[in-house]
Amino acid sequence: MTDRILAPLRVECAGRVREGLLAFGYTGEAVGKVQGLEPVTPLACLVRAFVKHLATPEPVLRRELGESFFGACEEAGLWKRVAGGVTGSVVLLADQGSFLLNDHGSERVGEMEMYWVMGVGASTMQVAHSVPGKPYGRVLDLCCGGGIQSFLLAPYAKEIVAVDRNPRAVNMGQFGAALNGFGHVSFRESDFFSAVAGDRFDAIVCNPPYVLSPEREKYYRDGGMEGDTLAEKVVRETAGYLTEGGCAYFVCDVATRNGVAAVDRLRSWAVGNGCDLLAITAPALAPLAYADMWSKPESEAARAEIETKWVARFAELGIESVTHMLVAMRRRTGENWVVIDALPKRTEGHFGRQIDRRFEGQDFVRRDAAETWSARLRLTPEARLHRLLRAEGGRWATEEAKVVVSDGLMYEFVVDPRTVDFLVMFDGTLTMEEVLGRLALAMGVNVEKVRSGWLGFVHQLAADGVLEVAC
Ligand SMILES: C[S@@+](CC[C@H](N)C(=O)[O-])C[C@H]1O[C@@H](n2cnc3c(N)ncnc32)[C@H](O)[C@@H]1O
Repeated sequence: MTDRILAPLRVECAGRVREGLLAFGYTGEAVGKVQGLEPVTPLACLVRAFVKHLATPEPVLRRELGESFFGACEEAGLWKRVAGGVTGSVVLLADQGSFLLNDHGSERVGEMEMYWVMGVGASTMQVAHSVPGKPYGRVLDLCCGGGIQSFLLAPYAKEIVAVDRNPRAVNMGQFGAALNGFGHVSFRESDFFSAVAGDRFDAIVCNPPYVLSPEREKYYRDGGMEGDTLAEKVVRETAGYLTEGGCAYFVCDVATRNGVAAVDRLRSWAVGNGCDLLAITAPALAPLAYADMWSKPESEAARAEIETKWVARFAELGIESVTHMLVAMRRRTGENWVVIDALPKRTEGHFGRQIDRRFEGQDFVRRDAAETWSARLRLTPEARLHRLLRAEGGRWATEEAKVVVSDGLMYEFVVDPRTVDFLVMFDGTLTMEEVLGRLALAMGVNVEKVRSGWLGFVHQLAADGVLEVAC
């Protein structure tokens, strides 16, 4: 395999390219405003080359960008000669203050197909959105590709080690780290954990090649393992690379196989792995729907062939359906738990804090009685109360009440209209015992009569992340 494919970019030139990009104002905001249809400004030239993958005549590029910057990009390996002039050899985006690199869709052909480095996909954002934005010590970006997860997390972490099996991805990542000026982000070629054996991390992020494809055709998609063995490997082995209290965030596809449901297979992999595990599952897909989604055939004949191959392989392996999951694991000494929820119909923006809260909620649910009743809880900022009122004897009565989580993972829960007024007492100042006392007084009953029902209700809200422990 040639260097053009395996190591196309020269890391030592990244500093000069960075200076030029900054000088030309190549930021996410500025790039978003440029159409790039005409190469009339340096920024438009850059957008044409690195975002739109359009050709610009070389003399125009040299004139607009200047010989020095054009030359720096040339030495770095960022230009590609095509019909009509020169375009970018890679896609270069500016997002959230970082430069992100990946291969252009048109490059996913021939011998490049295997080594093609993907850009920001749906699974990229699922992982990125699930990681809480808070300070980290050492982070591992497992199956890092061009380093998107690393670069988005870089402002929060002291050190990031990013590993990938694909040498082209590692080269792109190394170039990206230098381009961003992230001296604390390093890239290594590695078959899963092989290059970090014996190491420990405070957080692990991983968007693995999770698709259950019958053959390995491309690194970014196919893990090259039978069925969902890759998911099993990640669930079983990740804990061994986490520090106590450290968390891993990843996506995976798990099969319902030979009559055993995907969630039960996931549970069995988690047994004894030393981690608490929270999974959020999408609806299961039947083999044909799954094959169709991933093989994206270009003709009916290709579809029939691919479907036959995928569906036949699934039948051989006893795979009845496939469930996509978002998984968060926390290493914790003690009796570990597994909680599985359904993915809500809508998600919007980051939900890392909500994932954190679900871990905290499970900790709260497991507190002993004294610690439980002395805790002060508060409603979380995403919580909204929707109330439907009906006139009854000249007064408004609550007919239905719903707590709606209006951001991130967007859930809603129906709550008992009789208890809804007491939710506002969770403002972080009253203890659980004090809230219970007020509730019992208002209802005119003995505290002990309502204690266990109320506790169950509060536990549910804490587990769902609607209430959090203030202190
Ligand atoms: C779905 S892509 C994720 C890329 C990037 N982390 C993201 O979130 O967009 C999966 C990555 O796993 C890498 N990969 C495939 N097999 C691997 C292996 N055995 N060990 C490490 N990385 C591997 C691929 O090269 C690819 O970059």
